Amino acid sequence: MRLLPLLLLPLHLASAGTFFWATDMHVDIWGELGNPSDEICAWTPSAQLQSAVAAMSSIDAAPDFILCSGDIVHFPNRNSSDLSKDVVLQTHTAFTDYIRASFPSTPLYSALGNHDLHPSNNWPTNVEDSSWLYSHLSEIWSPFLPASSLDQLSKTGYYAVDASPTLRIITLNTNYWTVYNTGLPWDTGVAETQFAWLESELQRAAADDKRVYINGHHPAVGVHVEGGVEVGGLWPLYQQRFAMLHQQFAASIAASFFGHDHVDETRLVRSCTFESGNPDPDSSSVNSCSGDASGVVYVGQALTNCHTPAFRAWEYDVASAALTDYTQYAMKTDEATGELSWPEQYTWSAAYDAMADLSPASWQAEIERMQSNWTAFEAFTERRGVGCDKGDEKCRTFTLCNYLFGSGHAELLDCLYSGL
Ligand SMILES: *[C@@H]1O[C@H](CO)[C@@H](O)[C@H](O)[C@H]1NC(C)=O
Ligand SMILES: *[C@@H]1O[C@H](CO)[C@@H](O)[C@H](O)[C@H]1NC(C)=O
Repeated sequence: MRLLPLLLLPLHLASAGTFFWATDMHVDIWGELGNPSDEICAWTPSAQLQSAVAAMSSIDAAPDFILCSGDIVHFPNRNSSDLSKDVVLQTHTAFTDYIRASFPSTPLYSALGNHDLHPSNNWPTNVEDSSWLYSHLSEIWSPFLPASSLDQLSKTGYYAVDASPTLRIITLNTNYWTVYNTGLPWDTGVAETQFAWLESELQRAAADDKRVYINGHHPAVGVHVEGGVEVGGLWPLYQQRFAMLHQQFAASIAASFFGHDHVDETRLVRSCTFESGNPDPDSSSVNSCSGDASGVVYVGQALTNCHTPAFRAWEYDVASAALTDYTQYAMKTDEATGELSWPEQYTWSAAYDAMADLSPASWQAEIERMQSNWTAFEAFTERRGVGCDKGDEKCRTFTLCNYLFGSGHAELLDCLYSGL
């Protein structure tokens, strides 16, 4: 009799975990739902955010954690007094409160986007100039993080935290690596310090036998392609540094999550080859970085009103932290009543039925398949919400080269040149 409950226990379920992922919510806590003069991209009234959070909680009231890839604060000015430091702080507090009200026992792990500071985009390279924000965040996020993570957050806006005994989440502050940051060419200290910290965290994770999710705002791989190309991500040098560190610690890194570009995409981190034969993040002996995919970078569809607002529910294997499936939910507005709902948009395992799993090799094969199969590419762009006209090979080449070779500037240009 004692054995019976054990025999009935579904072992695969026992090791399955869930988390929500949302990014770029751009909340305006005073915004009015249904006010047409307010309805602009990167602007989400509180009522819309609360509706999304309520939908999340009805889908899964007790996920393991909620991952957010930044840009919590809206960016269009409402009036001249708006987007002051005070409004930025109030928005962070309100957002955290909304999450805690619906998920009292679920930790929120958020990265910081370019709009999460005042003034936005160009974050001072002296980290102390942003301590008014970091110290506030370390107070309001104290229910989610241990003292050592809070201490790091309060100084730099980046931190690492153990989400479970097997999973460590490394949260980057990509504002210190981005092209938006025009202070960096004159003062790279903060960028170097964050790389040294990332390397030490990856070493620590490997030594502790933890798997890692990397979370950040500006995608560390690729550029923003939407009609044209907007260079709003990392400086190419920092993309390469990220790719090389990623390759060195690929066995630890299960996946990376970013926001900023507002569209649903998956990009690859390619392996580099070295003149000496060995990966060496401290050397410049790189031959080329177009080897097999060593990792997968997910870019999230925004929760704000630029395209269709969406959030994602992930499933993962707790023991290995390997992602196993996801379902994306997208906002719908009832035309008659104006009421919002968040029906399922698509589930990975059904939509990507040619893929066996979410490994780097499977994504590489799937993206390469889209290079020669318009049906598969169109099905993808329909989910992404922003596409290419049928037969527009230039558009498809741009889109797919960015996913295949976005981890190296030269390799991306090479793919565009040879593909155009
Ligand atoms: C700006 O908007 C906020 C929120 O609606 C309001 O509290 C504040 O009084 C407004 N300021 C001005 C100068 O209109
Ligand atoms: C193209 O992709 C579609 C959708 O995945 C698939 O059904 C079809 O068999 C593919 N065509 C070829 C020629 O592989």
